[in-house]
Amino acid sequence: MSTSTAPSDAHMDATDDFLPLRGTDHVEFYVGNAKQAAHYYAHLFGFTIRAYRGPETGVEDAVSYLLTQNDIRFVLTSALGPDSAISDHVHRHGDGVKDIALRVEDAATSFDETTRRGATPVQAPTVHEDEDGRIVTATIATYGDTVHTFVERVGYDGLFFPGFEAWDHVAWERPSGTGLQAVDHCVGNVEEGDMDTYVEYYGQTMGFYNMLHFTDQDISTEYSALMSKVMANGDEKIKFPINEPAEGKKKSQIEEFLEFYQGPGVQHVALSTDDIIGAVRALRRRGVEFLHVPDTYYDREVLSERVGTINESIDALEELGILVDRDPDGYLLQIFTKPVQDRPTVFFEIIQREGARSFGAGNFKALFKALEREQERRGNL
Ligand code: FE2
Repeated sequence: MSTSTAPSDAHMDATDDFLPLRGTDHVEFYVGNAKQAAHYYAHLFGFTIRAYRGPETGVEDAVSYLLTQNDIRFVLTSALGPDSAISDHVHRHGDGVKDIALRVEDAATSFDETTRRGATPVQAPTVHEDEDGRIVTATIATYGDTVHTFVERVGYDGLFFPGFEAWDHVAWERPSGTGLQAVDHCVGNVEEGDMDTYVEYYGQTMGFYNMLHFTDQDISTEYSALMSKVMANGDEKIKFPINEPAEGKKKSQIEEFLEFYQGPGVQHVALSTDDIIGAVRALRRRGVEFLHVPDTYYDREVLSERVGTINESIDALEELGILVDRDPDGYLLQIFTKPVQDRPTVFFEIIQREGARSFGAGNFKALFKALEREQERRGNL
């Protein structure tokens, strides 16, 4: 394994942290049809539709659904007409991630500290109030049309956010959860040559540090390659790998994303679980499509040489197509879905960490082979 896969231990001293982050507050997707997307995530991924905002609750031009599963919160938002930033976003990018919202103790300070260091302001601190208390938000830009909203919800007792009401008017049999626990990391794809720009952006404006670095030597196949750097906050609660395409014989999967998303954006959101075998079994049964993993990946000798002893049955991993990787801190199990919309853009990763802090670099080649097979089928390789 190359040295680049060992996470750096250059943690920031917590006392220097000008942007203390409590975690991912929620991920907001702009989609063409939030009502139908809500049921997709409920029935396929095991989320519960919790709350709703729209004309009935006083918002005239858009609807949003809040979906939750354990610590994961997704907001699915659609416009109700053609003249809005939401419909513009969907027109250009298709369904995609608009906002990786981060929980903070003080949104105004977070906004001041980051914009003072060069972050692009999108929305100044704004107070949202209802009978359950107050939430303060402020938003800065990142790659493409993607943003980060700082969410300060100290003392707010409501369901989610002022304007949202419980979505309980439909008598439905809630699909059971699939054991997905939390957002582990969110990956951005940017244009060739821009990776370091955003590495610097997160470093300078948010105080993140570069915990890992992969070159195209680490992550390449005969046909496509990428470079990636992982930016993380001091306690690694928030991890943002940034990918850019590298020179390959043919179009890389990052270039395919950039083409179909019409620019930079979130490539995948990784969701953690304590039981990936149970989770993936449930997800497959419900109809979630995963990338195919070549059978040769599970060659027992090759696999045990690479990852050593693990607690899970290799037979079960092979049956479900789950990948394994090891780093100096432990091992991890991971699997990637196919894109969750018609454009070959955003997808999900399911990940179980058994000590490992890295991202499965050893699996990149296996993943690329699988991705390229899909890409070839679409005629884009
Ligand atoms: Fe990932």
